[in-house]
Parts: sequence; C-alpha cells; structure tokens
Amino acid sequence: MNRNDIIEILSLSGPDSITALYAKANALKISAIGNKVYLRGLIEFSNICCKNCYYCGIRRDNQAVNRYELNDKEILTAVDFAWKNGYGSVVLQSGEQQSAHFTGRITRLLHEIKAYTGNEIGITLSCGEQTAATYKEWFQAGAHRYLLRIETSDKELYYRLHPNDEKHSFDARLSAIRQLRIEGYQVGTGVMIGLPFQTIEHLADDLLFFQSMDIDMAGMGPYLEHSQTPLYQYRHLLPSPKKRLELSLKMVAALRLLMPDINIAATTALQVLHPAGREMAVFAGANIIMPNMTLPEFRPDYLIYEHKPGVSDDAALSKSKLEQNLYCAGITIGYGEWGDSQHFMCV
Ligand code: 5AD
Ligand code: SF4
Repeated sequence: MNRNDIIEILSLSGPDSITALYAKANALKISAIGNKVYLRGLIEFSNICCKNCYYCGIRRDNQAVNRYELNDKEILTAVDFAWKNGYGSVVLQSGEQQSAHFTGRITRLLHEIKAYTGNEIGITLSCGEQTAATYKEWFQAGAHRYLLRIETSDKELYYRLHPNDEKHSFDARLSAIRQLRIEGYQVGTGVMIGLPFQTIEHLADDLLFFQSMDIDMAGMGPYLEHSQTPLYQYRHLLPSPKKRLELSLKMVAALRLLMPDINIAATTALQVLHPAGREMAVFAGANIIMPNMTLPEFRPDYLIYEHKPGVSDDAALSKSKLEQNLYCAGITIGYGEWGDSQHFMCV
C-alpha cells in the first residue's frame, strides 16, 4: 500500500465499504497471526510526571491531580491477580520520571516480579523516555516489551501538542524509540487520532512511519479532550466523537493491512467513545486488550482523559466485564501466553 492507498482507506465514507475494510483487515489478521486476543493487565503504578504534554490530564502543571505512587506490595498484589487469572503479561505504566531512585526501583521490581512468578509473566514497560543505560538495565532485569508512543510522526504537529523545549524534543523521542530496538525490546509505538490540527495525510504518514520503523506493536486511540489541559481550547476543531471512533477503527484496519503480523492494541480510549469500542477494534484487526488492574483507590487519579471507563471498578470487575463482552462477541482469549509480536519473532 502506498500513501495514496492509505489516504483512500482513511477517507472511505460508505458504511458498506467501511464494513468491508474491517472484515478484510480482520481476515488478514486471522490468517497471519490467528484469531486470539491477548490480555495485558495494565498497572498504572504512578501518575507523577515531569512532562507537560498539552493534551494530558496528568501533566506536571495540573495542580488538581492528587499524585500517587504504588508501593511494592501494591504492585505485586496487582501482578499476582493478573498471573493467577491467566493473563500472560502485565504492563507497568507511569508518568515519566528519570531519577536514579525511580529507575533503580523499577529494576528491583522487575527482578522481584520475575522471581515471584517464576518467569511466567511477561512484562511490558511504558515509563517514557529514558537513557540507553536505563533501557538496558530494565531489559536485563526482565522487561522484554516497551511502549513509547510518538503521538504524531509530524514534527510540526508534535510541537503544537507539546511545549517546544528540551524536555519535549521530537528528535529525542525518535532516538528513544530507536534505542529500545537496539536494546532488544519488542517495540511498540502509537499516535492519537482525531487531534486538533491533524489531517488524514498526517495519519497516513503515521502508518508509514510505523512501517519504516519496523515496529512490533502499536497502540493507537482517539484523542479525548480534557478540560484541565491547554489543548482543550481547540475542542471546537475536533471531529465528532462518532468520526473519531470511525477514524480510529479505520487506522487499526489500515495498519493491519500494512503490517499483518504485528500486535495491535484495542485501546481503552475507544471504549470512551463507544461501550464496545475495543471489541469493534478487534473486529477491525486488533489483537491485544489491556484491562485495567490498577487498584480502585488510585483509578480516579490516573485520568489522562476524562470519562475514563471503569474508574470505580476493581481488577476483578474490569476482568469479568471484559471477558463477558469478549465471550458474547465470540472472541477467543489467549490465556497464560505472553502473546509476543510474531513480527518480532520472525526477524
Ligand atoms: N486523549 C487520548 N489519549 C491520551 N493520552 C494522553 N492524553 C490523552 C488524551 N487526552 C495518551 C498518549 C500517551 C498515552 C499513555 O495516553 O498517547 O502516550
Ligand atoms: Fe506525562 Fe505521558 Fe501525560 Fe505526557 S502523556 S504528561 S509524558 S503521562
């Protein structure tokens, strides 16, 4: 597929042609990597962040946020739940912190989790930009996948979404993603969809960027406005929620057609726009879901966007709701497997 083909796909408007696109992408997924969906228990272990992304509810300057950091026992309890319930993997996600105290703590936790589960649980990290040495240390301690979204592959748009300063350098973000590959991780990146100032051409270029970076995993979701962020002032420029959902699903389908054997997440943000948004993404070619394992008392403090679903649920309820929905939709779960990216395994 070339750029024009992708633009054409993302511009499809007739319901029949859109349905056919989703069906084609889903069929290609099944023939390339099978029809199972893999679950990653998502543990949002800290909302402390040194960054000030204009779109994010837990940005540094949002004083309204109650900052927290789970202690080791709380993290291990969440891991234990994921492990005992047959989730093959967990994702440890946090805001960005670079102190030696923070990076050393993650290293220690990784060793502890691997020892506790007898290396049964796969660990994905999503803790932002770090030095090559830190990425290396965490990989050696047992993390084998890393998520670091580029947010948009267009440098100009990137600086409309982030302050133009050293802490938010587009080039540094790119180098960090490249470094992750060098250190041996399965590398995941992604973008937000339906941002103010974003065009279909930007999105087509995002998909080509993923291909050129030869990524193993992608997590893309609709942008959702948050009233305590600077980007909120541009909300009049946003496509309708319905359009953002449709565009997000088309992005999933187009990426599946472009990269048949990677892991593609059906992200939680989709669920904000439609209760079955994640299941719809699975039928458009996604194969990963990340149910929230964060303890209920911390969930209201990890609102990167507003109206996040399941804020008052606990891990067991998030799990049973999701599994019930997947079961009803006829989707099979890959229990107890790491569900690694076959793209990575085939290199
Ligand atoms: N809407 C949608 N996604 C968001 N993220 C942050 N803020 C928002 C928002 N307002 C996404 C970013 C980040 C990921 C953890 O959450 O893409 O990388
Ligand atoms: Fe921090 Fe990530 Fe939010 Fe940016 S998107 S402010 S890095 S938590």
